[in-house]
Amino acid sequence: MAKSSVTCLNFQKRWILLLLAIFSISTGIAFIMRAAFDPCDFHSRSVEEVMVSIPERRGPEKNSGFLDFMKSKLILLVSHELSLSGGPLLLMELAFLLRNGGAQVVWITNQNPAEPNEVVYSLEHRMLDRGVQVIPAKGPEALETALNANLVILNTAVAGKWLDAVFKEGVSRVLPKVLWWIHEMRGHYFKLEYVKHLPFVAGAMIDSHTTAEYWRNRTEQRLGIKMPQNYVVHLGNSKDLMEAAEDSVARRVLREHVRGSLGVRNEDLLFAIINSVSRGKGQDLFLQSFYESLQIIQEQKLQVPSMHAVIVGSDMKAQPKFEKQLHDFVVEKKIQDQVHFVNKSLTVAPYLAAIDVLVQNSQARGECFGRITIEAMAFQLPVLGTAAGGTTEIVVNGSTGLLHPAGKEGVIPLAKNIVKLATHVERRFTMGKKGFERVKERFMEHHMAERIAKVLKEVLKKSGTSAHSFKY
Ligand SMILES: *[C@@H]1O[C@H](CO)[C@@H](O)[C@H](O)[C@H]1NC(C)=O
Ligand SMILES: *[C@@H]1O[C@H](CO)[C@@H](O)[C@H](O)[C@H]1NC(C)=O
Ligand SMILES: *[C@@H]1O[C@H](CO)[C@@H](O)[C@H](O)[C@H]1NC(C)=O
Repeated sequence: MAKSSVTCLNFQKRWILLLLAIFSISTGIAFIMRAAFDPCDFHSRSVEEVMVSIPERRGPEKNSGFLDFMKSKLILLVSHELSLSGGPLLLMELAFLLRNGGAQVVWITNQNPAEPNEVVYSLEHRMLDRGVQVIPAKGPEALETALNANLVILNTAVAGKWLDAVFKEGVSRVLPKVLWWIHEMRGHYFKLEYVKHLPFVAGAMIDSHTTAEYWRNRTEQRLGIKMPQNYVVHLGNSKDLMEAAEDSVARRVLREHVRGSLGVRNEDLLFAIINSVSRGKGQDLFLQSFYESLQIIQEQKLQVPSMHAVIVGSDMKAQPKFEKQLHDFVVEKKIQDQVHFVNKSLTVAPYLAAIDVLVQNSQARGECFGRITIEAMAFQLPVLGTAAGGTTEIVVNGSTGLLHPAGKEGVIPLAKNIVKLATHVERRFTMGKKGFERVKERFMEHHMAERIAKVLKEVLKKSGTSAHSFKY
């Protein structure tokens, strides 16, 4: 008993520290964190660097064993940049998983900012601490490492530019051992300049089936090239996030603090959208749905708790016009007391602890994967999501959440779904529990490691380098 209360205290301390970090964002990079949002589209999101989850992992971690066959293999990871955005952080997670499996891991950042940069410095040091080597993107060392490596993993479509820069006409020497990890689903990535070598690499690893299909279609129809072997690898939740999600004390403390800061009472219902504010993420349509749901509740005289919506991910500098449109809408409809805006945050866990329902309203082709969706499910939250992209592979309609169409035609269905969850408390809780079970079944870090391990095994076999290990 004594032991467990000590543990509690430790957790609480940690979470209060975390809260301090959120509410004084100026502490900046004191906490270095992990990706909590979908890496897709991170290019379009400027200083994206912020929608991230939890402080750095403590102590040595348990090794899931899936990547043990990588022992003493040399793996070169090529990142298009090093920042706190989804893509690079995900590749860093892989770097650490590979290190845990005993691999020798070398990291290259293709594009570093000209000026010394605090973020780059912190992230590089974090890697060095974990035994990842960091080398310059160009020059003899890069070339030699790539040629000696058992496997080269390129991260994002844009990283393709590195191949020509380093190998010039000798690029075919390295292509058979390149695994290309793709997290994008936007038109402007389908450029020959980025992806012309794609048909000749050992494989492409993609975050969802929908995204993989889209890449197959687009490359063939637009560029006349064929995709290599495709491997779909759904992402998983980090151990840190799961730890927060499964710690009821931490959850309660975070919930109280965040609700307090928003002026939302414990018994009020809080719906949230947690994404960088931009038209593609559909905050405008969500607010319309939220307003419509209030109308329905009023017209039908439904008994529900006080309803609130919070939009986490504001960045006035990035999307001033769109933000203004959102604020104007709220004023026009006189729902200022019920709608809250929160700036992009260093961490999402406190918001997930504080809310009752996550809305994933990404438009058009939807999310490439949508990591926030599995993070919300870890916190036992039902998800109201657009029936598009990766969301359809995560949310089970009617079981772990409810899906609505993307676009304007989704506004009323989403409003109705909001009302459904507002009026059916039991259903909301059941959906949250089902979501949590689904996460435990397939969206944990060890699931991701297992899926990646399968791909790496196959690619190593194919590229014929699995037999020789790196010689020190
Ligand atoms: C790919 O193309 C097929 C046939 O044209 C189409 O039915 C399918 O919807 C497309 N898939 C995606 C994800 O674009
Ligand atoms: C949110 O960001 C804006 C500028 O983008 C800033 O003026 C405002 O003070 C921030 N709000 C909080 C609560 O930090
Ligand atoms: C989700 O399920 C509801 C019924 O529970 C159904 O009306 C709706 O069409 C389904 N949506 C999708 C996208 O499958």
